Amino acid sequence: MLERRHDVRKRSAPMRLAVFASGGGSNFEAICRAVEAGRLDAEVVLCLADRLNAGVLERATTRGIPTIVLRRKDFPDDASFASRTVRALDETGANFVALAGYLKRVPPAVVARFTGRMTNIHPALLPDFGGPGMYGEHVHRAVLESGARESGATVHLVDDDYDSGSIIAQRRVTVRADDTPETLARRVLAIEHDLYPDVLQRFAREMDKQKANHEP
Ligand code: GRF
Repeated sequence: MLERRHDVRKRSAPMRLAVFASGGGSNFEAICRAVEAGRLDAEVVLCLADRLNAGVLERATTRGIPTIVLRRKDFPDDASFASRTVRALDETGANFVALAGYLKRVPPAVVARFTGRMTNIHPALLPDFGGPGMYGEHVHRAVLESGARESGATVHLVDDDYDSGSIIAQRRVTVRADDTPETLARRVLAIEHDLYPDVLQRFAREMDKQKANHEP
């Protein structure tokens, strides 16, 4: 009974979310759990990865969420890679894209298609510690080497560059004197899991309002 009600709610969710990831997918998991808990009014309609062995694929398969692996090297040029990506999104009816640990640059044609409807989460307080090469452990190591007393997570809109789109929300953690890149990464990841579903829910509410305004 509960499951049927849940399905009905998901079917009418205004946000049809595609998640792009390259790694283990703990953020993907947090997003799915938020949907299941009714904290995020969305349906996760696609998990797109750029590696065949990305752990996120198993998490998606377990949940019955469609997956696809698209690697630039399997396409003759940027245009065909971009158009296959757009087709995957269109086929699932995705209307929002959340990058969650996706390490590749999204083709400009795909970004253009989802202007204002594509977000990324970064494990530091942008605009500091962002840009090319700033991912995973590199970020946390750079934070520690800088002597910064705070770090955190940032959700931002995606544009054609790395980590440069408008910042939507940030959450902070205190850097401890005895932190290593690993301990800092763990604490930042824990806040990401709360922050990202919250931010996506803001967009989902907005999409719901827009839908209501367009309904007769
Ligand atoms: C997160 O720290 C995220 O901020 C960054 O990549 C990491 C992905 O972790 N962009 P996971 O795959 O979601 O566990």
